[in-house]
Amino acid sequence: MIRETSLFGLIDEVRDQAVLERAVKRFADQEIRLPTFAELAEPASAVSGEVDPDSPDPRNLFRVHWYNDHTRRSLAEVPDHFVAPGELTGTDANLVFALGNRFPMIRAHKVMAAYACLAPRIVTGTFDPSDDRAIWPSTGNYARGGVAISRIMDSRGVAVLPEGMSRERFDWLDRWIVDPGDVIRTPGTESNVKEIYDMCARLARDPHNVILNQFSEFGNHLAHFQITGSAMEHLFAATGEKRLAAFVAASGSAGTLGAGDYLKEVFGSRIVAVEALECPTMLYNGYGEHNIQGIGDKHIPLIHNASNTDDVAAVTDRATDHLLLLFNTESGQEFLRGRGIDPSGLGDLGLSSIANLLAAIQVAKHHRLGQGDVIVSVATDGAEMYRSEIDRIRQRDFPEGFGARQAEATFNEFLAEARTGDYLELGDAGRRRIFNLGYYTWVEQQGVPFEDFEARRDQTWWQELRPFLARWDALIAEFNERTGVSHD
Ligand SMILES: Cc1ncc(COP(=O)(O)O)c(C=O)c1O
Repeated sequence: MIRETSLFGLIDEVRDQAVLERAVKRFADQEIRLPTFAELAEPASAVSGEVDPDSPDPRNLFRVHWYNDHTRRSLAEVPDHFVAPGELTGTDANLVFALGNRFPMIRAHKVMAAYACLAPRIVTGTFDPSDDRAIWPSTGNYARGGVAISRIMDSRGVAVLPEGMSRERFDWLDRWIVDPGDVIRTPGTESNVKEIYDMCARLARDPHNVILNQFSEFGNHLAHFQITGSAMEHLFAATGEKRLAAFVAASGSAGTLGAGDYLKEVFGSRIVAVEALECPTMLYNGYGEHNIQGIGDKHIPLIHNASNTDDVAAVTDRATDHLLLLFNTESGQEFLRGRGIDPSGLGDLGLSSIANLLAAIQVAKHHRLGQGDVIVSVATDGAEMYRSEIDRIRQRDFPEGFGARQAEATFNEFLAEARTGDYLELGDAGRRRIFNLGYYTWVEQQGVPFEDFEARRDQTWWQELRPFLARWDALIAEFNERTGVSHD
C-alpha cells in the first residue's frame, strides 16, 4: 500500500482550497498554462518558433520534452538523438542516445524532473506561489531546472548546490535568479550530498520553504517512467531493429532510471545503472570524489527501484575527462576524422553522457550484443556545459598540450582497448545489497518510516504509483480550465 509521507510528494487531491485559489488567480494573471504529463510524453503541437527557448516565458513549459529539434524551437518527429558509430564503439550493436541539450532554458532534461515535482504541488494546493519558496537541492542541473521552472511559474526558487560545481552552472544561476540569496552554496563537490541534506533540514524549519528533494520525490521517477520511457520507445522503433536489449543511465537521483522500468515492462529490456568508478556505491558499496558531474552521490536514492535494476557499470572519470577533450578539441576531432568518425554529434555529450556511452559499450561487450540489438540511453546535457572543464583538464593532465599523439593514446586507452571489468550482473543478492544500503540514508538519517522504506522492495508498490500520473493530469486539466489560459 502507498502511504503518504512528507518526503514522497505523492499527493493527488486538493489539500488547501485557499492556496489553490491564489495559485489559479496568479497563473491566470501571468497567463501560465500547465502541460499535462501526457502532453509532455506525446507533444501534439509546437510552441511558436518566436518564443526563445532560453527565455523565462511560461510557454516554454510546453517544450519540457524530448521532441525539440536541433533548433530547440520546432518539433521533431523522433526525439533528436545521437547514434554512436561502430568505429567509435567497437561494437555492431546500435547505441542510441536521446539528446538532453534540446530541452529549454537549461539545455538538460533535468528541467523535466523539476516540473514533475512542482506542478503536482501547485494543482493540489500544497505550494503557494505567492508565499512559498521552492527549494531545489542538487549537484547542479536539477537546481538550475528548478530555478527555471519556479521563475516561469511565477514562484520563488532557491538552488542549493555544492560550491565546487562547474563555473557554467553558477554563471547560469546568476543570470536566472532574482535575489542573490537564492543560490545557497554547500561545502564540497559532486558527492557531498549529505551537506546538501543538512542545509535542507535547516531550511525546512521555515514552513514556507518547500523542499523538493529529487532523490525522494516520486514525481521525478514517474515523469521519467512516462515521458522518457515513451520517448525511448519511439527512438527504438525508429531504429527499425528487433530487440531492445537495454536501457542505460547514469544515476544521480535515479529519476532517469525510471524510464528503464517502463521499457522493461514493454520490451523486457535490461536496466543498467551507471556510476563513477571513483565512487562505486552500487558496485562495491564504495565512496569517493569524482568529476562525472550530476551522478554518483554516495547513496542510494529513495526513488531508485533497486529491486528492478539488472546490471551496474562503473566508468572512470579519467575516461570521461579525457574523452571530453578528444571529442571537443580540434586535434581530437581531426584524429577522429582520420579514423572515419564524424565528430559533429559528439559535442552533444557532456561528462555523464560520455559515461553512458562508455557504459553502453560495456553492456554490448558483456552481453555479446551485435547487429539487431539496440541499447538506448540519454545524453543528459552537452559539452557546452563543460567549456571551463576542458581547459582545466587540459592544463592538469596535458600540460604539454593535447595534440595528435595524446588524442590517439586517449582513443586507444578508453575506446579501442576500453576496460570492461567494473561491471556486475546483479542477480537477487546484488539487488538486495543495493536496496539495503539505502536504509542508512533514508530510515536512519532522513527519518523515512521503516514500513515506507521496506514497501519499495516489492514491484507491485511501484506499479501502484503509476495511476498518480493520470490523477495529476486530471488536476492539471481542471486547473487550466479554471485559469482559462489557452495557447490556441
Ligand atoms: C549531467 C547529469 N547527468 C546525469 C544526471 C543523473 O540523472 P538522474 O538524476 O535522473 O539520475 C544528472 C542529474 O542531475 C545530471 O545533472
